[in-house]
Amino acid sequence: MSIILLLLFLLCCNTTVLSTKNSDEIALLKIKKQLGDPPFLSSWVEGFNFCNIITPLGPNGFINVGCTNTSRVDGFVMRHLINFTAPFPEAICGLTELRILVIYQNPNLYGQIPSCINKLFNLNQVLISETSVSGRVPHFYNNTNLSLINLARNNLSYSLPPSLSTLPNLGNNQLHGDASFLFGTAGLIILANNSFKFDLSYIEFRDNLYEVDLSHNKIYGKVPASFATAVGLAYANLSFNRLCGELPQGGIMGRFSAAVFANNRCLCGYPLPPCSNSSPAPAPAPA
Ligand SMILES: *[C@@H]1O[C@H](CO)[C@@H](O)[C@H](O)[C@H]1NC(C)=O
Ligand SMILES: *[C@@H]1O[C@H](CO)[C@@H](O)[C@H](O)[C@H]1NC(C)=O
Ligand SMILES: *[C@@H]1O[C@H](CO)[C@@H](O)[C@H](O)[C@H]1NC(C)=O
Ligand SMILES: *[C@@H]1O[C@H](CO)[C@@H](O)[C@H](O)[C@H]1NC(C)=O
Ligand SMILES: *[C@@H]1O[C@H](CO)[C@@H](O)[C@H](O)[C@H]1NC(C)=O
Ligand SMILES: *[C@@H]1O[C@H](CO)[C@@H](O)[C@H](O)[C@H]1NC(C)=O
Ligand SMILES: *[C@@H]1O[C@H](CO)[C@@H](O)[C@H](O)[C@H]1NC(C)=O
Repeated sequence: MSIILLLLFLLCCNTTVLSTKNSDEIALLKIKKQLGDPPFLSSWVEGFNFCNIITPLGPNGFINVGCTNTSRVDGFVMRHLINFTAPFPEAICGLTELRILVIYQNPNLYGQIPSCINKLFNLNQVLISETSVSGRVPHFYNNTNLSLINLARNNLSYSLPPSLSTLPNLGNNQLHGDASFLFGTAGLIILANNSFKFDLSYIEFRDNLYEVDLSHNKIYGKVPASFATAVGLAYANLSFNRLCGELPQGGIMGRFSAAVFANNRCLCGYPLPPCSNSSPAPAPAPA
């Protein structure tokens, strides 16, 4: 009996060790396949040493796989593959210990960011930028490990998932809807050059907010009083929206030039020209 148990134990645990050891390799080989088995990944074969390798393509392009000191993949960087056309490899979700994911300057990488990305509980930094990925921003697992999400300059659309609350940089996409919930936790909020539409009047600008770029959207309402008291705010840009009414005064307002508030529907008061005596006419409702 005890021999059988011992055998079972050996069997089980050997298998477990083997399968976790190989799961990263299996995922990487799947990624290779989903990228269309390109010649530059020909060294990626069963049993290859994938830890801390750099596979170059072209002058500045490469794929870099990083590992922990227990040989688990914790970093995946795919950068500057200019002439390389492929779909976003969903098999990245098989790299279950992944902490850093960088997919940068791959203009011909298309498809969607897979929703299974929210199963990567260790993710700490996600940069997916300057690609042609489209579709929805995935729901990111709401975890305390995530410290950076930069999805700027892609072709993402639709509205945002409510789980997205960690340092989002979503500039230069085609996103719309309400993004006001981001103001609850994030310290950096970049929504520039989208079609977001929400009322700014009731948003609380908190002290931990240090950078906010809302320029070129369809944000309406007035600039709330908390904007002038958000002591951490080092950079702001509210230009090219549909804001209206008198700017809050005092506090940190001296940090900002008129350009920060330019091209809105009817903002007034320092650093913009004073509001006229006859209180500003209510803006016509947005069409
Ligand atoms: C591996 O790294 C962790 C921290 O990242 C450290 O605590 C541990 O001692 C290291 N193990 C070895 C074998 O170097
Ligand atoms: C991309 O392809 C074009 C034409 O095939 C070539 O001229 C250019 O050098 C390539 N660029 C890179 C970075 O490989
Ligand atoms: C981005 O999406 C729009 C439609 O939503 C499409 O017309 C355009 O070709 C896409 N651009 C890229 C670079 O994929
Ligand atoms: C954060 O990562 C650690 C390991 O790096 C993991 O044990 C922990 O569960 C993660 N936290 C959350 C909230 O997912
Ligand atoms: C995020 O996590 C908190 C605490 O763990 C939980 O209360 C909240 O419902 C979660 N939000 C989402 C959108 O998953
Ligand atoms: C928004 O788009 C304009 C025009 O393409 C560009 O000049 C500006 O830098 C963009 N803003 C940001 C924050 O990327
Ligand atoms: C604000 O954003 C607009 C549009 O992206 C840009 O033209 C302008 O230079 C920015 N202003 C400041 C003060 O950064």
